[in-house]
Amino acid sequence: MDTEKFCRLPEEELKSVLKSRMNEHRYAHSLNVAKRAVFLAKKYGADPKKAEFAGLVHDICKGIPNEEQLSIIKNAGIELDEDTLKSPALWHSIAGAVYCEHELGVTDKDVLNAVRYHTSGRGNMSILEKVIYMADLTSAERNYPDAEYTRNLTDFDLDQGIAYGVRWIAGDLERRGFPKGKDTEALLEEYKNVLITFEERK
Ligand SMILES: [Fe+2]
Ligand SMILES: [Fe+2]
Repeated sequence: MDTEKFCRLPEEELKSVLKSRMNEHRYAHSLNVAKRAVFLAKKYGADPKKAEFAGLVHDICKGIPNEEQLSIIKNAGIELDEDTLKSPALWHSIAGAVYCEHELGVTDKDVLNAVRYHTSGRGNMSILEKVIYMADLTSAERNYPDAEYTRNLTDFDLDQGIAYGVRWIAGDLERRGFPKGKDTEALLEEYKNVLITFEERK
């Protein structure tokens, strides 16, 4: 992969940075998301090279402590709303986008947004944002109960995959007592009329 098209590091150096910031499991996840993102990008009309790069770096801040994620966000002058402050699971995405821009020199706004919104989603996502959101939920090593179904559904129809994914995430947040936040709410609202017509469950 020609990572220097998107950031200031060549592929091997970028991969060393990733490995130094996350455990082996998350590194393998990052490679799987990159691979899955290429497949979905080709299928649904996003730029496969951007998708591969964004998939590779999407969790670049997930392996560091929460307080560090928060300070990356604060140092960038970003003020989090109340719901996001209560949802540490979202911080690594926001910090990740900041890290990509400031430390890796990523300038592509679509790539930065794909990283920024890969956990919460948001209303009016670009195709690349949708691809990374679903590649993350359906990467090869994912084995939550509905993973295989969600993967097949996403291969059948990207928007049905998103509708299914965001409803599941919203339910899970509710069960665990976390706020959905305005971005997930907006995605949920945008997709509320998307019917799931794909029946196959494996
Ligand atoms: Fe993530
Ligand atoms: Fe991820």
